[in-house]
Amino acid sequence: MTTLTVQGLTVDYGPVRALDGVGFEVPGGITAVLGANGAGKTTLLRTLSGLVPARAGTARLDATDLLRTPAEEMTRVGLAHVPEGRGVIAELTVEENLHLGALGARAARRGTASRFDLTRVYELFPVLGERSGQLAHTLSGGERQMLVVGRALLAEPSILLLDEPSLGLAPRVVAQIFALIRELVDRDGLTVLLAEQNARSALSIADRALVLGLGRVVADESAAALAGDDRLRHAYLGA
Ligand SMILES: Nc1ncnc2c1ncn2[C@@H]1O[C@H](COP(=O)(O)OP(=O)(O)O)[C@@H](O)[C@H]1O
Ligand SMILES: [Mg+2]
Repeated sequence: MTTLTVQGLTVDYGPVRALDGVGFEVPGGITAVLGANGAGKTTLLRTLSGLVPARAGTARLDATDLLRTPAEEMTRVGLAHVPEGRGVIAELTVEENLHLGALGARAARRGTASRFDLTRVYELFPVLGERSGQLAHTLSGGERQMLVVGRALLAEPSILLLDEPSLGLAPRVVAQIFALIRELVDRDGLTVLLAEQNARSALSIADRALVLGLGRVVADESAAALAGDDRLRHAYLGA
């Protein structure tokens, strides 16, 4: 099981302080990162994956110092980031897009048996198998979200950072994708950090939840406790 430990993480965009002394620990399972628009969720994920520099603080993934790991090395240390927006290469097929995810992993971990291969991804997301030869731009939003998650899995991560996977999807599709994310954690031992404005859906599958408010941690507790905390939900989650 992978442990992520973050302490005092501070990030500035010029004069804007986006994260202000953020600290938490993820000891496996699913941790939801909740908060209103602008709270700092995306910045947190982008900082952990080396895309935004930290001004202060530490972030460790087991023995790895993430803040000193360049973005292009993240696959090698076991971290995969699925950004907001479901970016795929529109003019490549589904399977070609998936192969791109496996490129770094093969080079990085030659000789070890892979936990996530194409067979496992098609087992998890059968619709991707059915559409493997189709161009990626023909997929629906939900299918595209499955494709970017599948592509990230082929890099064989131990921790997956997901940014707003539910955005713009129908509730039924969100429920389906979230159930599969839960299965990845329970069956494959993946650790997940799930940034979501959709607090209700995220809390339904998360073990723990971190609530950000203007770049600070305003709550860090079990998902069940947060789901029952009306005051916090009204103050920070608009629900
Ligand atoms: N590239 C950027 N340049 C300047 N400010 C930014 C940039 N990205 C985000 N911010 C600001 O940082 C804060 C946190 O944003 P973000 O991490 O995107 O929050 P969230 O994902 O929770 O909506 C906001 O005040 C936002 O306006
Ligand atoms: Mg965001």
